[in-house]
Amino acid sequence: MRSALLAFFTLFTALAGVSAQLAPLEPEDGKLLFGAWYDRLKNDTPIAINTRVGRPLSMFQSDINITETLQLPTQFIEQVDATNTDAILYLTVYPFWGFDRVTDVAIAELADVIGKETNKGRRVFLRYASEMNGAWFRYGQQPAKFLASWRKVIPAVRAKAAPGMLAVVWAPNSSNGYPFSGLEWSVTNTSADYRVLDTNKDGALNGLDDPYSPYYPGDDLVDWVGFSAYHYGRHDGPNSEYPWITNIDPKGDPVANMLEGKNFYGTFNLYTMFCEDGSGGGVQPPVSKGGKPFMLTETGATFHIERIGSALTPPRTGMVALPPGPGRASIKEKWWQQFMNSTFLTRFPKFKAACTFEFQKFEEETLRDFTTLGPNPGTFDPRTMRPWNEDQPVLDRFKADVPGYNFVVWSQATPNGLKPPAPVANNTNSNTNKGGDNKGTGHSAVAGAPKVVGGAGFVTLLAGLLAALFA
Ligand SMILES: *[C@@H]1O[C@H](CO)[C@@H](O)[C@H](O)[C@H]1NC(C)=O
Ligand SMILES: *[C@@H]1O[C@H](CO)[C@@H](O)[C@H](O)[C@H]1NC(C)=O
Ligand SMILES: *[C@@H]1O[C@H](CO)[C@@H](O)[C@H](O)[C@H]1NC(C)=O
Ligand SMILES: *[C@@H]1O[C@H](CO)[C@@H](O)[C@H](O)[C@H]1NC(C)=O
Ligand SMILES: *[C@@H]1O[C@H](CO)[C@@H](O)[C@H](O)[C@H]1NC(C)=O
Repeated sequence: MRSALLAFFTLFTALAGVSAQLAPLEPEDGKLLFGAWYDRLKNDTPIAINTRVGRPLSMFQSDINITETLQLPTQFIEQVDATNTDAILYLTVYPFWGFDRVTDVAIAELADVIGKETNKGRRVFLRYASEMNGAWFRYGQQPAKFLASWRKVIPAVRAKAAPGMLAVVWAPNSSNGYPFSGLEWSVTNTSADYRVLDTNKDGALNGLDDPYSPYYPGDDLVDWVGFSAYHYGRHDGPNSEYPWITNIDPKGDPVANMLEGKNFYGTFNLYTMFCEDGSGGGVQPPVSKGGKPFMLTETGATFHIERIGSALTPPRTGMVALPPGPGRASIKEKWWQQFMNSTFLTRFPKFKAACTFEFQKFEEETLRDFTTLGPNPGTFDPRTMRPWNEDQPVLDRFKADVPGYNFVVWSQATPNGLKPPAPVANNTNSNTNKGGDNKGTGHSAVAGAPKVVGGAGFVTLLAGLLAALFA
């Protein structure tokens, strides 16, 4: 009996330790969720992507707008359901027309959608007002309004979500180029936000200011952190080009550099600030105690197809074909192999998810192909309107790497539909963060909701152990 009890307590401590470290939807260390943001408007689908890759991806991303009302993600939900897997629904919500337009009605609609999905058994990532530190969205670089909106939206959504089924992702843009001066929505030096963003208080907003902390809503309102990271072209400090037009291989571990803010990829280390011990920020005291899982929220390497000439809208006259450089497949492979890489996972143990960006679009001066998992059969060459298949060699190389991805948590088939989350005991005491160690997931908008990780399975396991002990 004593040894059984000892074993029980050892196991209990071990499990409690594990559960205290993992955020909602966070896989264990060494494991990675891998997904795609697919082009719904060009008729791509999660099923088509799973078919192309030959494996069921862990998650699928799509975006909706929130203003006076919510743009309902009905088609997106149907398309993820149609995979007959437990893939995570990764929902990006844009307050496209600014925070002032987002109403309580729309927030309630969002909470209802997420409540319904999570109670149905669908796990959800919610990424709200992403790239808020950039200046290309109307809502960008407004830390006061961003934080106020976040503090309203996130608790409302959490209150409706089934425990453990929702993870809230706070996702700025990677900081290289911050503060992205002179863009349409750049903060102006007369606004109060400008003084907040001038974190070193030298009177100017520039690359020496912390690009992340002023926008951080606090550890209890964030489950995951992440950022957008792309390869655009020559990025070499003094030899960088802009606007980008050159097809060139990524070199020198840019994703790691973006995370750590070095070698011309920013100056602040997001990884230590939010995923390790909270150090490295420019704002004191630090805004985070660290310990958050990290996601590459949208990523890919650009292949520049053509340079846009005189016209941005059809008929696009004056398009100039660009030299392929080392070629699409080489450029893109060198991008994903940086992080779809067990050495990278060991180096950044809190790196737990990556999502590719499966679009081609006109941006700045070129027609850009960002895809990794193409070709989408619904995509047409915008110049000729013929089916697009130039991405096939890229996909072939990706597929050649897939058998080595034993670290990816592919989704599970659910032939009988999703299983709604088991109801969990209402144990008011289990939800507190212990000893100021904020690495846990001790948040919950639902007062007294049980601790997220460990949840029902853990309770069942304990019950089983107790039954075995006292049988
Ligand atoms: C959000 O609204 C903007 C502006 O109306 C529009 O360009 C964009 O396509 C919308 N996003 C979605 C997902 O519909
Ligand atoms: C993110 O930042 C880069 C500069 O580092 C910028 O060029 C890009 O437009 C931003 N947005 C996205 C979606 O990458
Ligand atoms: C504020 O910005 C304006 C226009 O960009 C500039 O002319 C002015 O010098 C700036 N003022 C300060 C105090 O930096
Ligand atoms: C894998 O990751 C390590 C650690 O960041 C990096 O040094 C290496 O270059 C990566 N491998 C590839 C092929 O990119
Ligand atoms: C948990 O129990 C408390 C006290 O009985 C109650 O006030 C609370 O609403 C319950 N919470 C849930 C999520 O059931």
